[in-house]
Amino acid sequence: MHASQKSLRFVLISISLLIAGFLFITPGFAENGAEAPGHLRCEYLTNPTGIDVPQPRFQWVLANSRRGEMQTAYQVLVASTPEKLERDRGDVWDSGKVASGDSAQVVYNGKPLVSGHTYYWKVRAWDTQGNSGAYSQPSRFGMGLLERADWKGQWIGGDGLLRKEFGLPGKVVRARAYVTALGYYELHINGKKIGDKVLDPAWTVYPKRVLYSTYDVTSALQDGPNAVGVMLGGGWATQGAGGPPEYKAPALLFQMNIEMADGKTVSVSSDTSWKTAAGPVVSDSVYDGDVYDARLEKPDWDRPGFNDAAWAPARQEKGTAGALSAEMMPPIRVTDTLVPRSMTNPEPGVYIYDFGQNFAGWARLRVRGPRGAKVRLRFSELIYSNGMINRQNLRSAKARDIYILKGSGLEKYEPHFTYHGFRYVELTGYPGTPSLDTLRGRVVNSAVEATGSFVASKEILNQIQHVIRWGQLSNLHSIPTDCDQRDERQGWMGDAQVTAEEAMMNFDMAAFYTNFVRDIRDAQKPDGEIPDTVPYKYGRYPADPAWGTAYPLICWYMWQQYGDKRILQENYDGLKKYEEFLRTRAKDNVLRYSYYGDWIAIKHTPGALVSDSYFYYDTRILSDVAKVLGKTGDAEAYAKLAGEIKDAFNKAFFNAETGEYANGTQTAQAMPLFLDLVPQKERGGVMGKLYNNIVYEHNTHVTTGFIGVKYLLPVLTRDGHSDLAYELATQTTYPSWGYMISKGATTLWELWQDKIGPSMNSHDHIMLGSIGSWFYRALGGINLGADGEGYRHILVEPRLVEDLHWASASIETVRGKVSCSWKHRTGAISMEVTIPANSDARIVVPEEEDMTTVTVREGDHVVWENGKFVPGDPGITAATARASAIEFSAGSGYYHFLLTGE
Ligand code: BGC
Repeated sequence: MHASQKSLRFVLISISLLIAGFLFITPGFAENGAEAPGHLRCEYLTNPTGIDVPQPRFQWVLANSRRGEMQTAYQVLVASTPEKLERDRGDVWDSGKVASGDSAQVVYNGKPLVSGHTYYWKVRAWDTQGNSGAYSQPSRFGMGLLERADWKGQWIGGDGLLRKEFGLPGKVVRARAYVTALGYYELHINGKKIGDKVLDPAWTVYPKRVLYSTYDVTSALQDGPNAVGVMLGGGWATQGAGGPPEYKAPALLFQMNIEMADGKTVSVSSDTSWKTAAGPVVSDSVYDGDVYDARLEKPDWDRPGFNDAAWAPARQEKGTAGALSAEMMPPIRVTDTLVPRSMTNPEPGVYIYDFGQNFAGWARLRVRGPRGAKVRLRFSELIYSNGMINRQNLRSAKARDIYILKGSGLEKYEPHFTYHGFRYVELTGYPGTPSLDTLRGRVVNSAVEATGSFVASKEILNQIQHVIRWGQLSNLHSIPTDCDQRDERQGWMGDAQVTAEEAMMNFDMAAFYTNFVRDIRDAQKPDGEIPDTVPYKYGRYPADPAWGTAYPLICWYMWQQYGDKRILQENYDGLKKYEEFLRTRAKDNVLRYSYYGDWIAIKHTPGALVSDSYFYYDTRILSDVAKVLGKTGDAEAYAKLAGEIKDAFNKAFFNAETGEYANGTQTAQAMPLFLDLVPQKERGGVMGKLYNNIVYEHNTHVTTGFIGVKYLLPVLTRDGHSDLAYELATQTTYPSWGYMISKGATTLWELWQDKIGPSMNSHDHIMLGSIGSWFYRALGGINLGADGEGYRHILVEPRLVEDLHWASASIETVRGKVSCSWKHRTGAISMEVTIPANSDARIVVPEEEDMTTVTVREGDHVVWENGKFVPGDPGITAATARASAIEFSAGSGYYHFLLTGE
């Protein structure tokens, strides 16, 4: 083609693209119809490669921002090829037009899904007027291995490195590798690491279940000789924690299915024909760190043609008889890279790096030096005044990585099978003089997506929000952990349950908790008992009731936040067994056994009160779950039991003369108020006592542990004391969240106290971060409406507090974005609200307390005047006056309210 022809063609293509761009300026927008749905998810995941759910659930978000938009129907197409889907042929499932407002939790109901197959799907929706919209962009999901028999190989082990060579005669059209391990694995094919997961697979109750990952390895394979290499590490499977190790050595199970262009299939699986040798990872342990001797590297071990004659045959391992399940949650990944803030040299040869932020992960090292030089990195959260690292609170965790140089120019190192919780790194043994560029911080956690944001005019709140987010992420490592640094890092259920709501508001936790709840179920004993930690290592069976409640509570939060009915169905028997177990331990309907109670409290509350409160809570949740599932008999029976527990609770703990529960601590008063255990006529008195306790006895400070604090601010807010809740939230003297910030905290502490000695005092626990959900709810105003599962019905109700001029919150829910931003200046409150299509809302616009006449405008319309609703604004259907607020009923859309008054 001539140059001129080329440029003409370029111009024509450009013009046609421009026209196409113009025509499709709002892609997928059908005339008058609903916009094409977006944000497609299958089992909460975007284009998952390997799922093993026979009837996966679909989810989409209606992009339409029109007022009062509702989905009236949908159609899902699932096809066996992208081409069929393109032609609108749902050969695997065509739901047809389904009259329904559901846009999440839509259950697949087509042909049986086949192991290893990939399916392509899209969806369209009909709007309020009954117009059909365009189809969404195509999405896909791949099935994992559905049967045990799909795994042809056996569990094998070896000395760190495992390899297998095989030939492929021809072109590969499609290949999938399925990998799991007891311990951690790193998969390499033909010289490349596959995927970006680290510390995989997830930590599970290994005797019951291990999780495998599915990788699309089509492009990694080649015509001719190929090699698979796997590096194995011990992880939690082989490491003692709270007791002896569960397994002696790590083990691998591998299956690769390859489809060739000529229609033949090739299977490569783990067996004793694999070869093994020791690799450069000399030792590894989650608590202690990695020792890596680069001199022991085997160059090209993961490529074909490597001479492995001296390698031994892989050993057959027992592995686990547990289920092989697909890993269906955000993997652990390197999620961020941090540049150190400073490097100091407090002693000769000792360099201290400060990352300015406490986090979970490791350091990446760059070094040049002689062969055999030994560089040591030690990690800490704290530093002494002389500039040296303080590691007293790590207990027995060695928390160090050692790198031994091979001496070949620039060497880069990151550990393979460990992670640390730290802000500071001590570098010793460095050949030469290091610089800031010698280290980078690698942030490592389960890569959950951020879905919420909260920001307000009071800086301390933003700082607390910052430490909550970092603290939460540091404590997500395939299970929710208590801490990330010392010799613990366990799935303590109490910590998990108090923070689950906050986590769900800040991050997309749906797939993560779906997995964790299954872990809990796996840990449940036949009599219904569940342990303090899941997987069980620390604590006891049965769990302290305030810890065990993680099971019912997280299930219930999954229903509330994500509309997840399936998790209720799958766990109904387990929840019932747990409840019945608790009943066997209760006497006269009072459950008194307790180990930790309101853990880390400043003022002790009797454990029995805490346990019994949860007994009531769990019973009520079970009744509510039964109701959602249509089990009316159970719903009534457990509601009745809850009533009996309530009476017994009041008899056991309430003193009507003093208005106090048990010893009248903040926790003792707040928990019964939160759970509506307090008889209505006593509520004022009980709240009065709580108020006095906080304001007069403790000079507006919290004295609770991590259990009570979850309920303290919400009950104050609910009973008209938002200002007091706010004062507690923004307090900066001991004890308070602000106190930690004033002492330089960058993640939340385990204790209210500022301790830096050898005692129990982690500086990265998340459980006091439960206040985060109060930020979203009370200050940001984002609440679930009554029966508003998955934000189907929304209540927007921000609380005005003196001293706060504005706040802004948003949550990306399963139905789309909900947001509320408000500003207050004397005489005027402006409030911007977004309600996603397919949801409705009650929007409460607050007034100043002493306003008598108020007018509310929404955009250009007056919607409230002279004490009355003024109809006519699209999307707003009604309004009523409430105490110091006007409540509007609204459909979806963006609204800008301005309330003025005198
Ligand atoms: C953990 C806590 C946990 C507790 C149980 C501690 O060691 O770090 O957060 O809930 O034990 O009492």
